[in-house]
Amino acid sequence: MRTDNDTWDITTSVGSTALFVAAARALEAQKPHPVAVDPFAEIFCRAVGGQWADLLDGAAPEHALKSEFGADFVNFQGVRTKYFDTYFTKAAAAGVRQIVLLAAGLDSRAYRLDWPAETVVFELDQPQVLDFKRATLAGVRPTANRREVAVDLRGDWPRALLERGFDPSSPSAWIAEGLLIYLPATAQVQLFAGIDALSARHSHVAVEEAMPMDPAEFTAKQQEEKRGDSSARGGPFFQLVYNEQCEPAAQWFGARGWRSDMTPLPNFLRAHGRPVPGPDSDAGAMTSTISLVSATKG
Ligand SMILES: C[S@@+](CC[C@H](N)C(=O)[O-])C[C@H]1O[C@@H](n2cnc3c(N)ncnc32)[C@H](O)[C@@H]1O
Repeated sequence: MRTDNDTWDITTSVGSTALFVAAARALEAQKPHPVAVDPFAEIFCRAVGGQWADLLDGAAPEHALKSEFGADFVNFQGVRTKYFDTYFTKAAAAGVRQIVLLAAGLDSRAYRLDWPAETVVFELDQPQVLDFKRATLAGVRPTANRREVAVDLRGDWPRALLERGFDPSSPSAWIAEGLLIYLPATAQVQLFAGIDALSARHSHVAVEEAMPMDPAEFTAKQQEEKRGDSSARGGPFFQLVYNEQCEPAAQWFGARGWRSDMTPLPNFLRAHGRPVPGPDSDAGAMTSTISLVSATKG
C-alpha cells in the first residue's frame, strides 16, 4: 500500500515497476523482429540478477512476464518504447534541445538515442533509483548531456529541475511514460501544471495514461495481489497504483493552448502488427484503458 511520502529503491515498491518494464523491454529485444531494441534493459536485469537474469535466460518459467499476461505486456512495452522514441526523434528534429524524462526509471534514452549536439537530458526519479542506474552504467558514455534530478514527483520538482539548469525560455520535450498511475490525482494536476509553466512555445509533451478501473474490479485485483496471485492477474502493480479520476491529458493541455493527439494503445499495437489481447483477458482489460498522448504548445 502507498503512503504520502513513501520511498523505494529499484527492487521495492514502485521502484520495482521500473525493473519490471525494463525486463519486458529486454524480452522484446530478444525477439527475432523486435518493435524496439533497448540494449541497456538487459544490463539492468543482469545487474540485479536472480529471477531478473534467469528470466532472460529462459530459466524463470513462473515469472509474471512468462504468463499469458506477460506475453501481452512485452508487446505493450515494445510498442510503448517505439512511441516515445519516435516522439523524441521528431522533437529533436524540430529543434528541441532540452529533454525531460519524468520518472526516468531505467529509461536508457540518454544513452541510446542519437541526440543532436548540445542536447541536455534531465532524468527525474527517486534518489535510489537514479543511484542504481548510475552505478550500473558507470562505464557507459551518454549520447547527450545527462543530468540527474533526484526528487519526489509529488513534491516541488520544478524547483529542483530549475536548479539543475533547465531553461524555461527554451523549448523542451517532456515524457511521463509509466508514471501517471503511480501518482494521486492532486500530484498529476501539479505535474501537468509544472510542465505547462516551464514550457516555452514550441515545447512538446507525451504521456501514457490509463482510465481508472471500475472500483469493484480494482479492489478485487488488489485482493488477489495480496493473496500472491500476481502472475496470473496482471503483474505486481495493483497494490501500487492510485486509480483516481483525473482530467484526460489531451483535454487538460488542450484547454491551455497545446495541440494534442491521442492514440489508443490497441490501435498502436495493431499498427505495429502486434495482437490486441481479447477483452476478457487481464491484459485486454488493461490495454483497452491505455492511451498514448502527445501535444505541442502553440
Ligand atoms: C513503471 S516505472 C517507469 C520508468 C520509465 N519511465 C520507463 O518507462 O521505463 C515507474 C517509475 O516512476 C517512478 N516514480 C513513480 N512515482 C514517483 C514519484 N512520486 N517520485 C519520483 N519517481 C516516481 C518510479 O521510481 C519508477 O522509476
